[in-house]
Amino acid sequence: MVHNPRLTRRSFTLACGAALTTWAMPRQARSQSGQSAEGFRILRAKPGRAELIGSGRSTPIWGYDGLVPGPTLRVKRSEDVRVRLVNELPEATTIHWHGLRLPNAMDGVAYLTQPPVLPGESFEYRFTPPDAGTYWYHPHFNSSEQLGRGLCGLLIVDEAEPPDVDQDIALVFNDWRLDLDGATEEASFRSFFDAAHAGRIGNVLTVNGKPKLDIPVRTNERLRLRLVNACSARLIRAQVDRRCRAVVMAVDGQPAEPFAARDSAVVLSPGARIDLFVDATLAPGENAPIIVSGYGHEAVLARLVCQAGAPARPEPLGDPKPLPANPLPERMDFNRALRIDVPIDGGAMSGMMMGRGMGGMMGRGMMGPGMMGPREGNGGGSDLRARIWTLAGRASSGHEGPPLFTIKRGRTAMLSFNNRTAFPHAMHVHGHHFRLLDKLDDGWKPFWLDTVLVMPSESTRIAFVADNPGKWVIHCHMLEHQESGMSAWFEVS
Ligand code: C2O
Ligand code: CU
Repeated sequence: MVHNPRLTRRSFTLACGAALTTWAMPRQARSQSGQSAEGFRILRAKPGRAELIGSGRSTPIWGYDGLVPGPTLRVKRSEDVRVRLVNELPEATTIHWHGLRLPNAMDGVAYLTQPPVLPGESFEYRFTPPDAGTYWYHPHFNSSEQLGRGLCGLLIVDEAEPPDVDQDIALVFNDWRLDLDGATEEASFRSFFDAAHAGRIGNVLTVNGKPKLDIPVRTNERLRLRLVNACSARLIRAQVDRRCRAVVMAVDGQPAEPFAARDSAVVLSPGARIDLFVDATLAPGENAPIIVSGYGHEAVLARLVCQAGAPARPEPLGDPKPLPANPLPERMDFNRALRIDVPIDGGAMSGMMMGRGMGGMMGRGMMGPGMMGPREGNGGGSDLRARIWTLAGRASSGHEGPPLFTIKRGRTAMLSFNNRTAFPHAMHVHGHHFRLLDKLDDGWKPFWLDTVLVMPSESTRIAFVADNPGKWVIHCHMLEHQESGMSAWFEVS
């Protein structure tokens, strides 16, 4: 028997929250520079500087083409993405295309799908995105530090028919751990404390690499805001001024059944994207803040600033119609699904930590072969971290050891995450989008996800059709957790 989705209209509540980043982008903007003869867009991962805190002070960063965020790549659905990554960093790296259902060999996971790209070397990525939507790219090697230093960028795949909006603006949120001069707190990259708690939460938030963004609007314009949480570990609650209606149009890149964001606010876990349609129901001279809150702070990271002059239209547009559907599976066979329990354990304040104490955590029991505690040199990446967290009883960096499960192509996988730790976790699955199942029955929410936030003491079930062959990682997108054990892989054969 084939499961029929019962769409639930329950509102989109993800949980608590915190930070935001933006940059305005004309719809037709396309990255042109650095084209190779074969049509590959050259992306150089390299050191640069960015004015993260304003007032003329700049911070050394790592960025694609030296920028934070890196260049926005933009293609139409079914158009090729061709990128040549050139590594000009002092250590190895890769590019992972977050949320894209692409061929396994292009997934950019160091050791699992490709060797790390060494300093001075390059690697060519080429694939055809099957889905329109908001995606992003970042390293999948020493990820906590490399993202923490700024390596990230957007990949926008345009719908064949552009939706009816006046402006299309991405807001990329990053957080940073800086000292008073704006320099990076280097020691925080190796903080055992952060890894065992909520992760490396920054003390400075940026939107599109800047402290603040003003978005000029006209009365009654409709904006598409693409919110992206590129922070290492921070949950972001972003609230648009309540005067302006905000409708959720897509989640994690995939079109959703449109629904109004409660209180015009949404929560994004690290890695997540939400596309909002926002109507600028403002009079000339008024402005509408976008407030990011969480972790005891609240900041206006962006504002819609209404310009003088004629309104864009006399009345705001009516209810938006859904974005055109992407070719995702329409049905899932739950009766013959592979059911996997994935208990999540470890971290500070857990039985695992209490029993052993911090000393025990750093001791032999928590380390795999060759894991010697603090990382040494450049080459080690995530392999040398202490093992603090487990998925289904195993601490892994996500590529060594046996798979969490193997599944025949086309079969449905149902995963049950059971968070037995004291912290929220953002569980991310590569190569597939999944449905979030209702608590009490097998109905699902009216959207797809690639990352799901699992709160402490919560059990969350997801389901997806394992239709993409290869080796894929599942990990917490709080990157310090990922690198200290919360990572596993599965194989679709
Ligand atoms: Cu955005 Cu495995 O990553
Ligand atoms: Cu986590």
